[in-house]
Amino acid sequence: MNGFVVLFLFGLSVRAEIRTAVIDKQTGHLSVLKGYREDFVAWANFTDDITTSGWSFLEVTTRGHYNDRLQAYAAGALEAVVTSQLIYNNWMNTLMGYCEPDTVQSGYCQRLKAYITTNLQWVMGQIEEQPDSAYWHQVHLSLLQLKGLEDGYHEQLSFPEGKFSINPFGFLLFQMGGDLEDLESALNQSSKSRPLGSGSCSALIKLLPNNKDLLVSHDTWSNYKYMLRIMKKYNFAFRVSPTGGDVVPGGTQAFSSYPGSIFSGDDFYIMSSGLVTLETTIGNSNPALWKFVQPTGAVMEWLRNIVANRLATTGKEWAEIFSKYNSGTYNNQWMIVDYNHFTPGMRDGSEGLFVVLEQIPGMIVYTDKTTELLEKGYWASYNIPYYVDIYNASGCNELVEEFGSWFSLDQNPRAQIFRRDQTDVTDVDSMVLLMRYNNFKEDPLSRYDGCDPPWNGENAISARSDLNPANGTYPFGALKQRPHGGTDMKLTSYGMFRDFAMVAVSGPTWDQVPPFQWSTSPYRDLPHIGHPDTWMFKPITVTWSN
Ligand SMILES: *[C@@H]1O[C@H](CO)[C@@H](O)[C@H](O)[C@H]1NC(C)=O
Ligand SMILES: *[C@@H]1O[C@H](CO)[C@@H](O)[C@H](O)[C@H]1NC(C)=O
Ligand SMILES: *[C@@H]1O[C@H](CO)[C@@H](O)[C@H](O)[C@H]1NC(C)=O
Repeated sequence: MNGFVVLFLFGLSVRAEIRTAVIDKQTGHLSVLKGYREDFVAWANFTDDITTSGWSFLEVTTRGHYNDRLQAYAAGALEAVVTSQLIYNNWMNTLMGYCEPDTVQSGYCQRLKAYITTNLQWVMGQIEEQPDSAYWHQVHLSLLQLKGLEDGYHEQLSFPEGKFSINPFGFLLFQMGGDLEDLESALNQSSKSRPLGSGSCSALIKLLPNNKDLLVSHDTWSNYKYMLRIMKKYNFAFRVSPTGGDVVPGGTQAFSSYPGSIFSGDDFYIMSSGLVTLETTIGNSNPALWKFVQPTGAVMEWLRNIVANRLATTGKEWAEIFSKYNSGTYNNQWMIVDYNHFTPGMRDGSEGLFVVLEQIPGMIVYTDKTTELLEKGYWASYNIPYYVDIYNASGCNELVEEFGSWFSLDQNPRAQIFRRDQTDVTDVDSMVLLMRYNNFKEDPLSRYDGCDPPWNGENAISARSDLNPANGTYPFGALKQRPHGGTDMKLTSYGMFRDFAMVAVSGPTWDQVPPFQWSTSPYRDLPHIGHPDTWMFKPITVTWSN
């Protein structure tokens, strides 16, 4: 394969005839010409249902008789071609102006560019120096997929045979959303995007009565500008080793994602290994730890996440792989559920079903929490570290001293709501209700007496910070009126995970509160190209054709 060159494109059905590869936008096939025969390397199937369900759906499948690197590049290129309109919209809504050329001279953007460039150089160096490493092979493939994504979007395919470069402020930024939250602090960005205490996601893992099922659910919390969504399923036939052999255990994955992102970011994944992985963000409030954020010896979180998801067969293995080369960025509490260790009605189990990992700069702690899950019947996650070493080191005691028990593991509003209401969960529907719950004007647990008014839309399982009055008095940033809240819900079960199926809801909750509408909200002037105006979508069941 001597590289691809786009020869022609025509009309709406972009049929990119390339010297040796063809992308047919109508069939979603990327084929290579072998003599006179076309044989496809990868295919993609994309359906945009955003106006009716709030979701679009993408499946990308690659074929194992092509080498992994070509599969990865083709997967990226195909995804970009079939989702290019959404990628454009998402870029305009979320990244336009982020260190773009005229602001690139700002001190922060220069430091960020230096960090990214040095980090990528170090990573590329490892890939070159360790050609037999399973770990670096997966990193390499992820960067090739990203390269394919960017090349495909620009309709300039050129498969890199050897070294290649990644634009630091190009589509890499779509992958770095979480990493950037911490890099902004570590690199002294003066206007940080994350207000103090701002929650980022709620999660609940719940055993139904008599352990008849194990439900795993996640709500993304984010700025409303990120609501253009693609539910993705990747079927990749990558090998564990760069020299061939077995296909990776997590080669097939379904996950909630975004245009231009080749991982989840939320994060919520169902994998062919039988693992389901998810996280909520814990962040870091101790400035002394930022010295551990260094561009060499570190792999950005989005890549460690992908590599662990592909290679791990157990929760412990996942944690071991993820813990290598801690970047100290996108600091999260990760939950790894291993359905291989669950059987409906199981009475006991000592380990293997559930692992909890927490990362901050310079430190990662993980342990098996199977026993605790079976004893308590649930695990709730709401942006506060569980492990005392992580809690103390990341500055949480100081937050409690300054602002009170809102920042404590036990007394945070969501800790209390989950504790009180998880006993009402008896099936999928009641779990969805809890994950979408926000009755902040009525529920005493949503009150925060340091605020005026005392009730607060942030203090619920699915936040609606847009409903807080603009003229209220709030002790810290998270409680202010903001275009921020729970922007989705995903749930899977023992019955569903094998088919990569889930129940999902897109957009801010409207169960006990009015639906979010851009045109009548205080945020009507923020960019939201391609968004529905009113977010009033019901739960759907996500299934796949392949
Ligand atoms: C950020 O600011 C702190 C305090 O002024 C300083 O110690 C640190 O070196 C700065 N970091 C960077 C990357 O500029
Ligand atoms: C964590 O901090 C609390 C409060 O300062 C202290 O009582 C406790 O001993 C600390 N625990 C560890 C393991 O550092
Ligand atoms: C805030 O605005 C609302 C509606 O405009 C008004 O009714 C209320 O009195 C204001 N509160 C304060 C504290 O200014």
